[in-house]
Amino acid sequence: MQDKSFLMIPGPTPVPESVLVELARHPIGHRSKEFSDIFMSCTEDLKWLAKTKDSDAFIYTASGTGAMEAAISNIINPGDKVLSLVIGVFGKRFSQIAQIYGADVEVMNVEMGKIIDPKALEERLGKDSKKEIKAVTVTHSETSTGAANDLERIAKIVKTHGALLLVDAVTSLGCMNLDIDGWGLDVVISGSQKGFMIPPGLSFIYVSPKAWEVNKKAKAPRFYFDFARHKKSLAEETTPWTPNVSLVCVLKKAFDMMKKEGLENIFSRHKRLRDNLRSGMKELGLKLLVEVDKDASCAITSIYPPEGVSVPDIRSAYKKDWDITVANGQDILKDKIFRIGHLGFVSDRDIEMTLAVTQKIFAKLRKN
Ligand SMILES: Cc1ncc(COP(=O)(O)O)c(C=O)c1O
Repeated sequence: MQDKSFLMIPGPTPVPESVLVELARHPIGHRSKEFSDIFMSCTEDLKWLAKTKDSDAFIYTASGTGAMEAAISNIINPGDKVLSLVIGVFGKRFSQIAQIYGADVEVMNVEMGKIIDPKALEERLGKDSKKEIKAVTVTHSETSTGAANDLERIAKIVKTHGALLLVDAVTSLGCMNLDIDGWGLDVVISGSQKGFMIPPGLSFIYVSPKAWEVNKKAKAPRFYFDFARHKKSLAEETTPWTPNVSLVCVLKKAFDMMKKEGLENIFSRHKRLRDNLRSGMKELGLKLLVEVDKDASCAITSIYPPEGVSVPDIRSAYKKDWDITVANGQDILKDKIFRIGHLGFVSDRDIEMTLAVTQKIFAKLRKN
């Protein structure tokens, strides 16, 4: 049926009607007072969402990967030692970007579906008595597996060592608690098409006072993503380049909704969606990639197909019979798992519906 398709992928996520209506409006001038007011209000709301007063928050017209690259190019110099905590595809991407910018990257890896062991991190950083490691990169919620690192503990350990902590919060911000000032996070990045409930095209980046100090000595070539150019413009309540005006205007609508729901309610809703989806899938006899409940992201769940049923067949049944899109696995997990996103504009009803549909799909596929 037309206009009934439903996205249960980990981004882009479903978009509320108030956002869709706003998207239909003509763009406004990006140097107008009207736009400046909207832009500054979004900047303040970004700080509210990530619990920071001390960090600057910038809005880039770019996808999340652009903000990841900005985090590296504004902080890392060739030859700098970087420790990358990799629990999946996106952690690996952060390490690759650091490598491309000439960093001496050491990777701490875990099996897909697992998270970084804080004790192993403590041990590794404890051995760095000369404090050679300049920065640690970490993914909060790893979209390729549905595992979520214990960011608060990781931040505490990194703080004790003294390195900068660069955080990919693309699928955690707006879904899970993240406390920049309380936990001492230095650079945090995110993207619009996830917990923010708006289409792809904007990314967000937070820069702490400690990161600014390091940024003063950063030598990598950069222009579009240069922190300092964005800070100068922000002081003038504007952006250095033409932003995606329409997306910034709808971001304001999304923030209005988020503030009405309240931060703690947003986090508890995402936790409830995760818990209900996980227990519902287990009741259907399905095995989850992330076995330990407390290590599971509140934004994405990765599920193994039952014996004898292929992932492409499952995805195609969701799509053809029910107009629901679910994601395949990525990289080495392609066709090994399917992933359901439950972040942003997702309600309890969506989870119950997805579980009911899943039951019907497997009954049919098992018969064939
Ligand atoms: C955890 C994580 N990091 C980074 C990215 C990259 O973001 P983008 O695809 O917007 O460039 C994604 C995208 O799904 C992601 O989930």
